[in-house]
Amino acid sequence: MSDEIGVVVLAAGKGTRMKMDTPKPLVPLAGRRLIDYPIRALNNFRDQINDLVKINVVVGHGGDLVKAHLRETFGSDIQYTRQKEQLGTGHAIKEYFEQNKEALNYRYTLIMCADTPLVTSDVLLKLLEKIRLDRLDAVCASFETSNPKGYGRILKAKKGFKIIEEKEASIEEKRIKEVNSGLYLVETSFLYSHLSMVKNDNKTGELYLTDIFQTDQNVDVACYNDDRSFLGVNDLFQLQQADQIIRQRKIKSLIQDRGVRFIDARHTYVDDTVEIREGSTIYPNTYIQGDSVIEKGVEVEMNCVIRDSFIKGCTKILANSYIEFSEVGPSCTIGPYARLRKGSYIGEGSKIGNFVETKNVNLDANVKVSHLSYVGDALIGEGTNVGCGFITCNYDGENKHQTRIGKNCFIGSDSQMIAPVEIGDECFIASGSTINKSMPEQSFAISRAKQETKAGLALKFLKKKS
Ligand code: UD1
Ligand code: CA
Repeated sequence: MSDEIGVVVLAAGKGTRMKMDTPKPLVPLAGRRLIDYPIRALNNFRDQINDLVKINVVVGHGGDLVKAHLRETFGSDIQYTRQKEQLGTGHAIKEYFEQNKEALNYRYTLIMCADTPLVTSDVLLKLLEKIRLDRLDAVCASFETSNPKGYGRILKAKKGFKIIEEKEASIEEKRIKEVNSGLYLVETSFLYSHLSMVKNDNKTGELYLTDIFQTDQNVDVACYNDDRSFLGVNDLFQLQQADQIIRQRKIKSLIQDRGVRFIDARHTYVDDTVEIREGSTIYPNTYIQGDSVIEKGVEVEMNCVIRDSFIKGCTKILANSYIEFSEVGPSCTIGPYARLRKGSYIGEGSKIGNFVETKNVNLDANVKVSHLSYVGDALIGEGTNVGCGFITCNYDGENKHQTRIGKNCFIGSDSQMIAPVEIGDECFIASGSTINKSMPEQSFAISRAKQETKAGLALKFLKKKS
């Protein structure tokens, strides 16, 4: 059977309870934005069925930003309804039909809230199955929860049911544990005709969509015993609950589907967007964020942050390292306590040791920068060893300049290079040198004051002290 399904995603509300400046649909959540989750579930749903699914997002507060974000993330397939004033979820659906006349032609209308990010395509499939098998006019996804506060309560009758919003509920009704998830699949003709009967004669003066459901109708609830899937994100507490659930789901799938090892999954934080391949091990209190990819056999020790970075196979990231917008490996050792800033390309087998900061650098294979150094705006050739306490002086107060170091060089400890400067292959720089002139290949440079040693003179200074 093939039917057309018009989907409405309600995203116009202000999200006052969030107490954030960001429009609620764009609130960051485990590497994506809140609204991305229902849209992704819908895309999966669409891929799983033969029916035509047309998504329409109702926008209001921050509408232009929400639209721009969705266009960038999901392309131009999604349509929009603008709800200028937020007069309630019922009003939002009225505006949808008003502004999209073709929506009346779709057999079913699926209504979802932008603030229920944990709903999966499986739940949507079950609703579709139920409305078809039971030949219903409408089905509402409900769930049982020990903490029903804030949700509309389901009042069942012999036939049909009603939804009582928290604000309208009596003390008795508030005790009901079965609540409305805000997800409905409705025959479009039923929805449209019942919408015209919805009134705003309640405590908020809003048009409640939930009033389309009444007793003695051919409507039913599909009750799920999994309250985690329907969590509504209305405040910062629920946001962190959703964040935790998404991250736990992510880690579970990395363990089960990918063969990634987590030492303590409860205290490891991986964005939904991240890719980690088999044989990798991630220690606790590590954050892996954004568009990061961790290849096979990588080990990331505790307290690391990896953001928008590509870590190639068999690399070890030792404790307390911070890596962003960089590419590392394969087979590198980074840290402990290393900081790789934007544009650090670290080649195969290289080593970046403790208290080393890099930025905008390209290190070839097998380069070693093992201790206490700053390497910025630099190119370093294969096999070069950089001693302890090396600094590229890349900034003259106005502009940044580049340091180029060839292959197989030895850069003595406590050296500085005043950029722009170019060092040829196989050069040797003595410790404590300040290099501000370029060097041809295989040359040696020393630039430090000559040492004078005076016998016995130490005693004079030592006495002075005591
Ligand atoms: C709603 C339901 C409640 C259900 C809960 C599930 C109503 C009246 N109540 O309550 O029964 O248990 O969801 O999470 O529907 N929106 C608009 N335009 C408006 C008003 C809201 O687009 O004029 C959008 C919001 O942006 C939000 C969604 O509709 O994405 C739900 O609105 P919200 O105010 O969060 O409703 P709840 O109080 O959570
Ligand atoms: Ca809500």
